[in-house]
Amino acid sequence: MADAADFFYNTPEPAGLKANEERIKLFCDTAVKRSNARVVLVTSGGTTVPLEGNTVRFIDNFSIGTRGSASAEYFLKHGYLVIFLHRARSLQPYTRHLPHTKLLDVLEIGNDGKLNVKEEHTEKLRTVLKKYKQVQEEGRLLMVEFTTLADYLHLLKAASCIMKSLGNRAMLYLAAAVSDFYIPADKMPLHKIQSSDGPLKLSLELVPKMLEALVMNWVPEAFVVSFKLETDADLLKDKACQALKKYKHELVIGNVLMTRKNEVVMVTLKDTEWIRLETSEVESGMEIEEKIVDNLVNRYAQFCI
Ligand code: PMT
Repeated sequence: MADAADFFYNTPEPAGLKANEERIKLFCDTAVKRSNARVVLVTSGGTTVPLEGNTVRFIDNFSIGTRGSASAEYFLKHGYLVIFLHRARSLQPYTRHLPHTKLLDVLEIGNDGKLNVKEEHTEKLRTVLKKYKQVQEEGRLLMVEFTTLADYLHLLKAASCIMKSLGNRAMLYLAAAVSDFYIPADKMPLHKIQSSDGPLKLSLELVPKMLEALVMNWVPEAFVVSFKLETDADLLKDKACQALKKYKHELVIGNVLMTRKNEVVMVTLKDTEWIRLETSEVESGMEIEEKIVDNLVNRYAQFCI
């Protein structure tokens, strides 16, 4: 398996990396000037793994960025500055509340010919729009997009290295669903794979885990929170502990695919804490990300003392 350095050496940088670095740097420089500003990098959505250089086919995963986009909103509510590194066209803070596939159903044409928001949607949209506008005016949200695994890892490294200058005022919240397998650039066909060549046999290589380099070198003073996703609940706690011991970061949030919206486990080397939504909370529309972020904000305050 290649190590992190080999991966970056052999994997071409995404278009626009330099421009994104400039945007992130400007955002962090501005943050430094605000007293007590805390900056969190939230990663969200799934990475793709292309099968061809001129990509027609790619491998994808299930995540549409619910965890990341909701969490980003709650961090903003707590006054944080948020760098939202997300999969293109996945869910985003605030706009996630809009009915994406039925956007036109929210609107109507009034008797005067003007476009109006239908009465039943007005209250919710007004609330979301107010929050969105306030965050925009305060310049507290920076949106950065990725699509492929290579885009994501290059941007994660760039953002982390820039955030190093923030010392312990930086938090990383790694909620993106990151592929563990890929086809290295030098082993990938350039052109579309032809079905006339017969059945396709794929050989994927392991992606090096980036957490070690991230914690040790890229952003060593930050409060780093990674996620551990399993489908077998029995594996969750042990896997989370293994990750903590191996990468030596602050906290792993364990979640099981089927129950991830209602319970997670917060694991540190000192304690294990389950966070759950009660039935009444689910019924009232509460999101587990609100509880996760409240919990992290308290832990982070202790970390910064
Ligand atoms: O978007 P939703 O539908 O709301 O789903 C949210 C979620 C289930 C995707 C999210 O809560 C979650 O668990 N995200 C992490 C998924 C994941 O990549 O888990 P993993 O067990 O494969 O990786 C563990 C950690 O290693 C992750 O923090 C990842 O960032 C990191 N990693 C992964 C691959 C890699 N090559 N290098 C890494 O450092």
